[in-house]
Amino acid sequence: SSAFKKKLLLANHNIVVTAGPTYEAIDPVRFIGNHSSGKMGFAIADELAAMGANVTLISGPSAEVSHQQNIKRINVTSAAEMFTACENNFKTAKACIMSAAVADYTPVHVAEQKIKKQDGGLNIELKKTTDILKHLGEQKTPEQILVGFALETNDEEQNAISKLQRKNLDFIVLNSLNDAGAGFKKDTNKVTIIDRDLQKTVFELKNKEAVALDICLKIAQLINR
Ligand code: CTP
Ligand code: CA
Repeated sequence: SSAFKKKLLLANHNIVVTAGPTYEAIDPVRFIGNHSSGKMGFAIADELAAMGANVTLISGPSAEVSHQQNIKRINVTSAAEMFTACENNFKTAKACIMSAAVADYTPVHVAEQKIKKQDGGLNIELKKTTDILKHLGEQKTPEQILVGFALETNDEEQNAISKLQRKNLDFIVLNSLNDAGAGFKKDTNKVTIIDRDLQKTVFELKNKEAVALDICLKIAQLINR
């Protein structure tokens, strides 16, 4: 059957996928987060598993569920936890697809008790998180495939190419926000894939499962080249 043939595409390859947002704690009841649903990462994990890969899905807080076997899920909350989980799983992986919306900043101090309101405003001091993808790009061997995402509002392609190169990626998936049906919380996405040879493929607006298939076929092509 075609499902059986598909299962051979990535058979026996360990692949790490990250998904969802991260939550950076401010105090026991509050956090800094973002609107990522995890839909794109979960769809990629399902598609890779359908292609026969042993998938490790490292997910921030998300309501999504997986629809395939061969997916080991690791739940994390913060960017620091996601970093540790990626670090622990990347070495033995053939590929890593970093689709999580990782926080760029996290509070310097996490209050032990709920912060009480006082007169005047409130300043929360933030520090930069580790760029997980950039760190993996520095570790990666030539046999490993590393894929990142880019969300841009201006100079889209130029910014995506600079991320691709700075983070040592095999390709980057650029999310086009300039389309009403694309982005956070939506079921559809419009993407452009740019690879390390700067070969650019512009895809139509489609549902996230179909976008996941395009991305996973590109991964299978690179792994089986
Ligand atoms: N990323 C990461 N670790 C971070 C921040 C981002 O691994 N601390 C990854 C994302 O998962 C994504 C890629 O880096 O695959 C690009 O994320 P994006 O937010 O578009 O770019 P940044 O490098 O964070 O730059 P900026 O937000 O300033 O555009
Ligand atoms: Ca960012």
